[in-house]
Amino acid sequence: MFTGVQFVALAVFAAVYAVRADLPANCARNYTVFLMDTCDKISANENVSTYQLPHVNPQIDAACDNLGEGEPLCLGITGQDCTTTYVIKDGDYCALIAEDNNVDLSTLLANNPNIDSECSNIYPGEVLCTATTVVPYTP
Ligand SMILES: *[C@@H]1O[C@H](CO)[C@@H](O)[C@H](O)[C@H]1NC(C)=O
Ligand SMILES: *[C@@H]1O[C@H](CO)[C@@H](O)[C@H](O)[C@H]1NC(C)=O
Repeated sequence: MFTGVQFVALAVFAAVYAVRADLPANCARNYTVFLMDTCDKISANENVSTYQLPHVNPQIDAACDNLGEGEPLCLGITGQDCTTTYVIKDGDYCALIAEDNNVDLSTLLANNPNIDSECSNIYPGEVLCTATTVVPYTP
């Protein structure tokens, strides 16, 4: 039989091993969730777009309310990792963001497929990929 301490150690090891195993092998950047983290906060601090974070981590729900402290996340897949980002401010609109970041509007929309074609669903605090080339995201 395991002692209590051995059992806890084994359970912790198993849990850590299980979640780590979920990170893709081709992860370019990894991250460990802190208490009180939100998707927007992680995105702004780590230069990862609002689209890319849940795209790479499909376990994150649509409202991003299921992050767990200590949870490992992958911030970007090698070859599909946009690290040039911009945090939307009050009053921003897509043409302005494109101009200010020297990126074609079509490239901006291609790299942020969560934005609708009218660019009517952006919000302050949202993080956009402002790379000047189209990132080859795997669907
Ligand atoms: C996370 O990234 C660090 C630094 O690149 C690396 O040393 C480590 O092995 C990575 N961990 C996992 C679980 O991928
Ligand atoms: C995010 O990008 C900014 C601007 O390029 C840079 O100063 C900062 O160090 C980057 N942060 C991380 C975590 O890569």
